[in-house]
Amino acid sequence: MSINTVSTTSFPGQRPGTSGLRKKVSVFQQPHYLENFVQSVFDTLGDCAGKTLVLGGDGRFHNRAAVQTILRMAAAHGFARVLVGQGGILSTPAVSCVIRKHGALGGIVLSASHNPGGPDGDFGIKYNISNGGPAPESVTEAVYQRTEAITEYRISDAADIDLQKTGATRIEAMEVEVIDSVADYAELMQQLFDFDAIRKLIAGGFRLCFDGMHAVSGPYAKAILEGQLGAPAGSVINAVPLEDFGGHHPDPNPVNAAQLIAIMAADDAPDFGAASDGDGDRNMILGRKFDVTPSDSLAVLAAHATLAPGYRAGLKGIARSMPTSQAADRVAQALGIPAYETPTGWKFFGNLLDAGKATLCGEESYGTGSDHIREKDGVWAVLFWLNLLAATGKSVEALVSEHWQRFGRNYYSRHDYEGVDTHAANELMASLRIKLATMKGQDLGHYVVDFADDFEYTDPVDGSVSQQQGVRIVMTNGSRIVFRLSGTGTEGATLRVYLERYEADPEFHHLPTQQALYPLILIAEQVAGIADWTGRAHPTVTT
Ligand code: G6P
Ligand code: ZN
Repeated sequence: MSINTVSTTSFPGQRPGTSGLRKKVSVFQQPHYLENFVQSVFDTLGDCAGKTLVLGGDGRFHNRAAVQTILRMAAAHGFARVLVGQGGILSTPAVSCVIRKHGALGGIVLSASHNPGGPDGDFGIKYNISNGGPAPESVTEAVYQRTEAITEYRISDAADIDLQKTGATRIEAMEVEVIDSVADYAELMQQLFDFDAIRKLIAGGFRLCFDGMHAVSGPYAKAILEGQLGAPAGSVINAVPLEDFGGHHPDPNPVNAAQLIAIMAADDAPDFGAASDGDGDRNMILGRKFDVTPSDSLAVLAAHATLAPGYRAGLKGIARSMPTSQAADRVAQALGIPAYETPTGWKFFGNLLDAGKATLCGEESYGTGSDHIREKDGVWAVLFWLNLLAATGKSVEALVSEHWQRFGRNYYSRHDYEGVDTHAANELMASLRIKLATMKGQDLGHYVVDFADDFEYTDPVDGSVSQQQGVRIVMTNGSRIVFRLSGTGTEGATLRVYLERYEADPEFHHLPTQQALYPLILIAEQVAGIADWTGRAHPTVTT
């Protein structure tokens, strides 16, 4: 074994987006492409002597090859130890959990989250820091600057290690420990939730269906829901991670999780349904013939949090991303705790959690989590819901309907225009921004504009400012339209239009969502000229 220095030249565009560097697999397969990025991460970290790194991914195509390369580079960079998930598998929340539990310097997650996998699909890499959360922009920007200037990287020529066998081995002076992918994570879940109560609920005939979508959460759900909580075998479907996710799009929303939606819509549907995404950090919650929006899920969990042992002491605060509905704010107000509104991107919650300002966080993009780790967490959300259902004895639909009665309902939908011409999308946003100054007080038919702005966030902990985080048009009754461009797409631009209508009157709580939002949908088109700019008469995906 020896360590070699390899000459390289920089690749353009290695700037991490909302959630790491994501590109087509073929881009990552170019010689030196992955190596350049990893070396730039290590250079940014500085001296790693004596330090521990966590490494794993969602099992998508190229995962194993990338794990072996990164291990060889970590050995060349002087890490004392790398903890790698068995088979190269670790969900994003598990990486966060393992970093924190073992006091690691940080971790590398190999995933493009919900983006499709396989040889023609996407691959991604993300660095998480010692608190277990995604690296802040100061770090990712420094990494990007390194990728622009890189001339060489260092790598051991050691052979591949066996990723299937748990236990310790060495590359150069570095110890590599292949760990059980689920164990540390499952132990943490047992501390947070009342496993006995959930076990009793299931033993009493309560039925559930968890869709692993052939992605990383399958093994976690199988071990915990079937193995530890006694759900019958087969309760977890599509449980085996596949390199191409079985050709499906591992994004848990009503469009992509069609099989689960059909199961939950049947007359003999289980009591509870849930799905998670490629890397296990998202969640979708369903009742029998009933969908729960992510924004409502956050609000319901917050309202009942003290029923779960890990949250008995109450919540310090609730944080949501700006486009997420304001339902959770009403709960925070009732509980007398602060509500925070952050830009899109889980990393913005990190400071609030570290500073003890917030306990629960959530995003409209099917992400929910808490201060137990520093990532959103799919299986955690499922267990939280099961804990509430066990503690209250109520159905999913009853819990949500009662919530609306108490707090009012925030009708909510997101319309995505995917694969739009990047230039046109930027022009659309630019022309919206120009209009903002004159919108206040404007009468738009059903609605009058209270204020319109381009969301800007000042982090209450470190004072950092993030600008241009989404155009919002807020009506006098709290209803809103938000426009922003996705930071996670890999082809062209994705325009997201977020629609929210607040309805206090229980008599109007059971309208079809798109119908309830129709006047706002028309206003969005009228104000932004979506069809003109994008050439699209309809969104590609509506959730
Ligand atoms: C990832 C991030 C989330 C974000 C989501 C959508 O899952 O972790 O924080 O909400 O992507 O981001 P986008 O920029 O595509 O709307
Ligand atoms: Zn994800």
